[in-house]
Amino acid sequence: MNDFAIETKQLTKIYGAQTAVSTVNLHVRKGRIYGLLGRNGAGKTTIMKMILGLTSITSGEINVFGRNIKGQEKQVYPRIGAIIETPGFYPNLTGTENLEIFAKLRGTAAPNAVENAMEVVGLPYRDKKLFGKYSLGMKQRLGIANAILHDPELLILDEPTNGLDPIGIAEMREFIRHLSVERGKTILISSHILSEIYLLADDIGIIDHGVLLEESSMSELKKKNGRYVQLQVSDVSKATLILEREFHTNDYSVQDDHTLRLYDTALHMGEINKALVMQDVTVISSALCNDTLEDYFKSITGGEGIA
Ligand SMILES: Nc1ncnc2c1ncn2[C@@H]1O[C@H](COP(=O)(O)OP(=O)(O)O)[C@@H](O)[C@H]1O
Ligand SMILES: [Mg+2]
Repeated sequence: MNDFAIETKQLTKIYGAQTAVSTVNLHVRKGRIYGLLGRNGAGKTTIMKMILGLTSITSGEINVFGRNIKGQEKQVYPRIGAIIETPGFYPNLTGTENLEIFAKLRGTAAPNAVENAMEVVGLPYRDKKLFGKYSLGMKQRLGIANAILHDPELLILDEPTNGLDPIGIAEMREFIRHLSVERGKTILISSHILSEIYLLADDIGIIDHGVLLEESSMSELKKKNGRYVQLQVSDVSKATLILEREFHTNDYSVQDDHTLRLYDTALHMGEINKALVMQDVTVISSALCNDTLEDYFKSITGGEGIA
């Protein structure tokens, strides 16, 4: 046994003449948030689809919870929840009604599965609003609620923040972290946005043209890079108090009432984010400045930057 929720070995996908995924060795550790970062067309969705059996594997293997998934699909897939493409929700039913249908179709056993899932993503249970009237953020939340109906140990989320505004992205980050920290889920999440992965993930894999160029923990990556993180928060003085008390650092500067810069890049941004949010400090944005990680990304991909 090992500590990997997902481990791929030489995973490869070839479409016609094109190699979409090339000999990828991915290591997603149990209980961690793994961010798969790469620009559009890098191969992120293809990797996720292969893990979920939505597209065939050209060569290589995938182990989930220490087992090759080939021939083990019935045992493995009930332990995974995913959003890859927007599930086909009915626009003229409410969110709750939609989830009830999916729960029935899947034979989800727990009687309060729908209510629990909606609570986790912060959607009102038995609200009368029709899915067709949902905002994009609410639709994305319902997609995640649908993915966690059966309380899976492993979540695979393909660009769940796509199209969301900064507040929506911050909220999404918050409950993804909640699922990891409070509920012990393992999460594989993809994005083409560096700052999103930077703020959320414990481990990072950088993929370009189907090749996994680098895999490391976020703290290792930060040691190699990074000058400061600029945080925009609702209450700077409260935020600095939390930083000093809980993270024992005074390695920051205050720019204005809502902005502070954190120079101690060995700190875990996800934990800081969580602590701030839990103490009612809203994190409006978090940006890595001096573009060091961005430069790093450029240098290893040999190309232009990433959003
Ligand atoms: N069904 C398919 N048929 C042919 N090529 C595909 C198919 N799906 C994806 N590709 C190609 O594989 C590459 C990786 O795509 P994808 O995994 O969707 O990247 P990402 O999710 O990182 O944007 C792209 O060049 C894409 O055009
Ligand atoms: Mg994709």
